[in-house]
Amino acid sequence: MQRKKIAVIGGGQIGGIIALMSTQRELGDVTLVDLPEFLNPVRGKTLDIDQLRPHINADVTLRATSDYAEISDADVVVVTAGIPRRPNMSREDLLLINIEIVQGVARQIKAHCPGAFVIVATNPVDTMAYVFHKVSGLPKNRVVGLSGALDTGRFQSFIAAETGLSVKDVSCMVIGGHGPTMVPLVSTASVAGIAITDLLSDAQIDAIVQRTKEAGTEIVNLLGNGSAYFSSAGSIMEMIEAYLGDKKRVISCSALCEGEYGVTGYFLGVPVVIGANGMERVLQASLDESEREALAETARAVIVSAHNSGI
Ligand code: APR
Repeated sequence: MQRKKIAVIGGGQIGGIIALMSTQRELGDVTLVDLPEFLNPVRGKTLDIDQLRPHINADVTLRATSDYAEISDADVVVVTAGIPRRPNMSREDLLLINIEIVQGVARQIKAHCPGAFVIVATNPVDTMAYVFHKVSGLPKNRVVGLSGALDTGRFQSFIAAETGLSVKDVSCMVIGGHGPTMVPLVSTASVAGIAITDLLSDAQIDAIVQRTKEAGTEIVNLLGNGSAYFSSAGSIMEMIEAYLGDKKRVISCSALCEGEYGVTGYFLGVPVVIGANGMERVLQASLDESEREALAETARAVIVSAHNSGI
């Protein structure tokens, strides 16, 4: 059977960990694409992982290149090209730099692998996914942004820690823009079906919600030079595996809304089904009054950012 092909544009922190995790899971052959001037460290990374393979019995190949012709057969493309934020920077501060980069990448993907399922990770992600979709002209089911999968993982981790219960039993979702206006859905969050409101006080829940919204910034401030990469890569892996395995997973992603949640023509973090057709559909969740208000506010923020892109 032909092995799957995974391409990552940007062989930095997230790109390297996706290469590692894909190899560990024998998910497919991995190609990291980076600029010629930065290619040597990326080559070193792929060689290092290649030489890890005998220790973990992984039969896949790894490559580093600057030539998009080498990813013409990619099944999945992850876009991490761009700069990450540093302390005192918001994701929006990256817009002007990353927009140029993502436009260039979108043109290359359109030219070389227009049939791939594309996951955009570059921040500010809702706007970068919007720009990627506009510039590449790929259908909406083939373009999603990494947002809610990561934010939901953070919300799950904090609920597990605060309740002292297994993270495996926590079920919840974060929707909205990938920024301070994101909306952790408390009304439907549960541990093995038991509402978190039955397990935690209002003050505990408020603290978890606040920490979830600021989790990326907490890590940026501690790292001092760059943003989260293990959890980002891990959540991208969930999306890749859902697509390659036609799993029909329900994952919160930045997706093009066409009327869903009152938004038309913009990318916003919403629950979507990921399967062999990519982003197969958006699921409509019922929200309580405060969640509806918060979603309207986050939608406004995402739309302003998309307008600021000038695309
Ligand atoms: N084409 C290909 N690669 C590029 C380009 C380009 N035009 N411009 C930059 N890159 C590469 C860089 O050379 C670098 O190797 O993108 C890589 C980015 O890696 P890191 O700086 O390590 O950033 P990372 O932590 O992986 O995050 C990437 O994802 O979560 C977001 O905010 C984060 O925007 C950032 C992106």
